[in-house]
Amino acid sequence: MCGIVGYVGAGEPGARPQGVVMAGLARLEYRGYDSAGIAAVTTDTSHVDMAKKSGKLINLAKALAEHPLGAATAAIGHTRWATHGAPTDANAHPHLAAGGRIAIIHNGIIENFAALRAELEAEGVAFLSETDTEVAGHLLAREVDKGVGLADAMRLITRRLEGAFTLLAVDAREPRTVVGARRNSPLVIGLGEGENFLGSDVVAFIEHTRTALELHQDEVVEITPDRVTITDMKGLVVEREPYHVDWDASAAQKGGFSTFMEKEIHDQPTAVADTLRGRIDDRGRLQLDGGIIHETVLNSIDKIIVVACGTAAYAGLVGRYAIEHWCRIPVEVELAHEFRYRDPVVGVRTLVVAISQSGETMDTIMAVRHAQQQGAPVIAIVNTQGSTIAREADAVLYTRAGPEIAVASTKAFLAQITAVYLLGIYLAELRGNKFPDEIESLLEQLDAIPSKIQRVLDTSEPIRELARTMANERTVLFLGRHVGYPVALEGALKLKELAYIHAEGFAAGELKHGPIALVEEGQPVFIVLPSPRGRESLHAKVISNVQEVRARGARTFVIAEEGDTDAANYAEQVFYVPSAPVLMTPLLSVVPLQIFALELAAAKGYDVDQPRNLAKSVTVE
Ligand code: F6R
Repeated sequence: MCGIVGYVGAGEPGARPQGVVMAGLARLEYRGYDSAGIAAVTTDTSHVDMAKKSGKLINLAKALAEHPLGAATAAIGHTRWATHGAPTDANAHPHLAAGGRIAIIHNGIIENFAALRAELEAEGVAFLSETDTEVAGHLLAREVDKGVGLADAMRLITRRLEGAFTLLAVDAREPRTVVGARRNSPLVIGLGEGENFLGSDVVAFIEHTRTALELHQDEVVEITPDRVTITDMKGLVVEREPYHVDWDASAAQKGGFSTFMEKEIHDQPTAVADTLRGRIDDRGRLQLDGGIIHETVLNSIDKIIVVACGTAAYAGLVGRYAIEHWCRIPVEVELAHEFRYRDPVVGVRTLVVAISQSGETMDTIMAVRHAQQQGAPVIAIVNTQGSTIAREADAVLYTRAGPEIAVASTKAFLAQITAVYLLGIYLAELRGNKFPDEIESLLEQLDAIPSKIQRVLDTSEPIRELARTMANERTVLFLGRHVGYPVALEGALKLKELAYIHAEGFAAGELKHGPIALVEEGQPVFIVLPSPRGRESLHAKVISNVQEVRARGARTFVIAEEGDTDAANYAEQVFYVPSAPVLMTPLLSVVPLQIFALELAAAKGYDVDQPRNLAKSVTVE
């Protein structure tokens, strides 16, 4: 939610700061695209140069082409997902203060902004925007006007701010410095040669450096071309080891595909294979990426609660079937934003599993903190290295999907499901529910999944063709049962997000308890059909559900397992996926539904990478 980039270099004042920041913003645009802006520190110490525009980054790029900023030594840039104030030019960041000497950008929400604004207005400060951010700029101005340096001023003012923020600021009188601060919102520092970077995410600067440092909660950072100083809010210096970012720059490019979403759907075989690679050792132990939860603790847990939001929660729902079946431990899946408000029964014997692509979803962070306060061990399944959830959890298992740039999640979903399976397999072995040869067989079956996903991708033309005929549909239903149920939910979510078509996913058995009233002549219904090899009765039961909607005029489209000769008798069209163990089928059956949503949205001319109203990383509650 909002993307932030900062740069400072040692070279002669020039175009590099602006170039680095604009390229970083292009990569962070997935975080918000209501407006974009940039401020550059030039040789003029009276004010910083600034440009900002509502709408996508392209509008800012056009404005800069007409009126380039001056030769600069440092710059900060912002791409916005609006919270306080409409997405207008005036509300776009940066915001200026101290007569244009200071520029500030912000990600998050300053909850006490109204009181601070009233205080500043009483002192005669005139506000130019409706944003909460502007108060931080004027508070900084009040300090620097007294002669306080920018970093000290940042430490002073952040103590007064409540809520969530990443703030970056520059001061025309400190031309080779950018200052940042964070609480509950991410900020990563990139270490270069004679230049340093700041970004909401490493993709902001990955083409320049892969050596990074995290800024932790309630810390302030000051970067100059050859120095990075991290302190707490009182000014106490903090030493921190840098880490190497594994993602390579090409992973954040479209790689020949026309959209990130198309590319990321095609990345899925690799995302699953990478997430599996080398994860379980010869003795059946799961290789965690950080932290530790002792085996005695894992042996003593009597319940698992998965906390997550949106697509990540659906990955948890899939995982529930597998973990309960393999480990015989009850698993609950809870939307993270509901979790802590319902006074959940959580304690030292509850393992909380937090699933998040970004690792920065505020709802999930708060659920993790709540669980830890109750004494529960927390394991994070997270895609973004060094993110808040990864750091705050007791242990972390990274999904290795690589950077997911398209706002709607695809490859991270498959990687999350894979990681939950790994956790389940490990717990099954640890708690003696499975023999080593059974574990080996499960891992072998998982290893076979990436090439099967590839086959689904290679045979996707028929579902693409269907999608192109459905641009005028007003509503689409998705049905599934057992592990097919979360797949139906995800299919519906993808269609809503990408194609703005009303879609609902239902447990197929629930249909007759109400939703079947929606079905009328011509209603498209997608059904995720269980394997006839599995529990035969379930296959037959879902076929009955298909019959029920067909009898009421629905057009039925079925995702079925290769070799299911029966399926074609009940469907206008069948899309086959390779066979796999029942619990692993979601890794295959969801792929045609992702492609359907993508293709339909493209047929309607929509921006599939940046659907309206959404942001990739939801850092507000
Ligand atoms: C849907 C989607 C969202 C996210 C949700 C959680 O396509 O991407 O529903 O899954 O906002 O985000 P993370 O996984 O970053 O916590």
